Amino acid sequence: MFTESVEKLASILKNGGIVIFPTETVYGIGALATNTEACLRIYAIKNRPSDNPLIIHFADKSEIEKYCEVSSLAKVLFNEFSPGPLTLVLKKKNDSLFSCGLSTVAVRIPDHIEARKLISLAGPIAAPSANPSGKPSYTKMEDVLEEFSGKVDGILRATEPSYSMESTVLDLSQEKVILLRTGSIDRRMIETRLGIQVEVLESPEIISPGMKYRHYAPNGKIFISKILPSIQEIQSKHKIASNHFGNSSDKSISKIARIGFGMSDVSNFDKMVFNNLDYMKSLYKFLLDCDKTNIEIIYCQEPYDGEFADTIWDRLNKASST
Ligand code: TXA
Ligand code: MG
Repeated sequence: MFTESVEKLASILKNGGIVIFPTETVYGIGALATNTEACLRIYAIKNRPSDNPLIIHFADKSEIEKYCEVSSLAKVLFNEFSPGPLTLVLKKKNDSLFSCGLSTVAVRIPDHIEARKLISLAGPIAAPSANPSGKPSYTKMEDVLEEFSGKVDGILRATEPSYSMESTVLDLSQEKVILLRTGSIDRRMIETRLGIQVEVLESPEIISPGMKYRHYAPNGKIFISKILPSIQEIQSKHKIASNHFGNSSDKSISKIARIGFGMSDVSNFDKMVFNNLDYMKSLYKFLLDCDKTNIEIIYCQEPYDGEFADTIWDRLNKASST
């Protein structure tokens, strides 16, 4: 059911249903966090590995305090970045939220009015990104409808995600502050705004089970390059016959797509971006469109140094790993 009514969707959630809703980062596929059976259905729909815990979405801080131990540092971080694209891993106070058997839960307050209204009517919502496991997160309603129509009990039509990249995940359940996933807020922003040190682990999967799985990967092969080669250079490097811009009808020719800052010969499949923010916001949709148009060779330009570079690098590395 495709609707603008948060009231309808809240009642679907309360009855154990699964709904898709936009947040300021990406679309989420959610169930009531206090309903284990409903949460488990999300795993089946997404084909998500069963040991990968879900982020629980709240409407406000006082609700989080009912379920989790909110340390003084967590309060500072929430004051600075919430509502917003920051997820904190906190110790549980009780067992009423779905937590995948862990002693911690990841929580966040989305900066999205309709999403928060839905949460305040229904209760805390456990929601991973709405995409088949391993694929880029969805940022556009057209992609959500194509993949999930008929598979979920409701879809909220509201303001589309603006960051188009998942939230940053910080672990506050240990002595040090640990960055588990960089996102729309990167480590530098947290360190400079708050003057705290954020640790980055070599192997975050030890704490965050989801990090060990392949992520964001399109079907085509990704090449990362400092400067984008021209189509002709790519064709000769990969020994591809020429004449296969976006309008090619020859199915035997492998298709190329590029994303980056500078291109003089832009094809229908290419995405030109103007800065790192634009790159971050465009990356997932670009990768998803590559799959839709059966792109086989994908060139991604290295991001500029500075804001969002870490996040773009993280996603490029994960999307290109095998
Ligand atoms: O922006 C976002 O965060 C989106 C929107 C829908 O809120 N959600 C999202 O969820 O990206 P998901 O499931 O795709 O990513 C959640 C990440 C996973 O890598 C998971 O392993 C980690 O958070 N995580 C969740 N609970 C955890 C916990 N208790 N301890 C450590 N990591 C946890
Ligand atoms: Mg995800």
